[in-house]
Amino acid sequence: MQEKIKQFKNEIKEKIENVGSGDMLESLRIEYVGKKGKITETLRQIGSLPIEERKTVGKELNILKKNFEEALKDKKAELSVTTKKPATDFDYTLPGLSKRIGHLHPITQTIQEISAIFVRLGFEVVAGREIETEKYNFTALNIPLDHSSRDAFDTYYTNDGNLLRSQTSTVQVRIMESRKPPLSIIAPGKVYRPDTVDANHSFMFHQIEGLMVDRSISFSDLKGILHLFLKEYFGAQSKMRFRPHFFPFTEPSVEVDVSCFKCKGKGCSTCSHQGWLEVLGAGSVDPHVFEAAGYTAHKYQGLAFGLGIERMCMLKNGIHDIRLFFENNLKFLNQF
Ligand code: DAH
Repeated sequence: MQEKIKQFKNEIKEKIENVGSGDMLESLRIEYVGKKGKITETLRQIGSLPIEERKTVGKELNILKKNFEEALKDKKAELSVTTKKPATDFDYTLPGLSKRIGHLHPITQTIQEISAIFVRLGFEVVAGREIETEKYNFTALNIPLDHSSRDAFDTYYTNDGNLLRSQTSTVQVRIMESRKPPLSIIAPGKVYRPDTVDANHSFMFHQIEGLMVDRSISFSDLKGILHLFLKEYFGAQSKMRFRPHFFPFTEPSVEVDVSCFKCKGKGCSTCSHQGWLEVLGAGSVDPHVFEAAGYTAHKYQGLAFGLGIERMCMLKNGIHDIRLFFENNLKFLNQF
């Protein structure tokens, strides 16, 4: 019996050392101290031993069992440290994932930049409607139904006789009907035209309308305001020139050019070697427009102007295709 116990001791020592997994450890436990385990069986046989031996053998076997069980425990702890799987697959040592922060669309940025300049000059930003009537898009703006100038502002009609405005000038009579002078407003927003889409045309684009009305507003006010604006937007060196033009709702009317900010007027690809960039239309409010708004004839004077947002943004940033603004291409948009 003593021999057997000694043999168990040696076996156990060696086997425990070689255990490499929880499963192996469990089989080892069953082999020795399970119901039919080697130590369990041997303990059962104690009763058949002569009395003198029983006590010592029993004691030794129980010590062996206790030591074995303790060794199992230690091994289990050791295994759990070396082979324990992480609770999740998440690696806490990796750098964090930062959220991508979006930003405003370049058209919105341009609207905000231009609006901020006019707000500093005392203008208020107002909103207009995109669905309008013929009155505000045409007739009230001195564009008679049968006049050829109407072609320039052709647009889409709805089945019930309304239309998508083709110019932000619609805001002029709307605002004058709702307020009395003095007023100075700008109105940014979308306009629509049945143009074939190409690098310079889109069926939808953005404009900003400006309108200032008071008892005495002169053409030099228009010049001063627009020159200040252009210097703010294109740079302090910018020169401005007025070219006579025709718009039905202003008299006199002008087209306004700014000296090319790239070549300072010498001529380059941005300005098609002209030295000048055409940037807006403007003029003194035509008395017919005041009449349409219900203002007493010749009581007030006003100035008005309108410019294209896409064009302003394209010129400043060297963008050659208007379609880029509307394609949701992040490679393009992320540059702004
Ligand atoms: N509405 C014109 C257009 O879409 C731009 C314009 C020209 C607006 C002259 C004005 C103006 O207020 O006085 O082409």
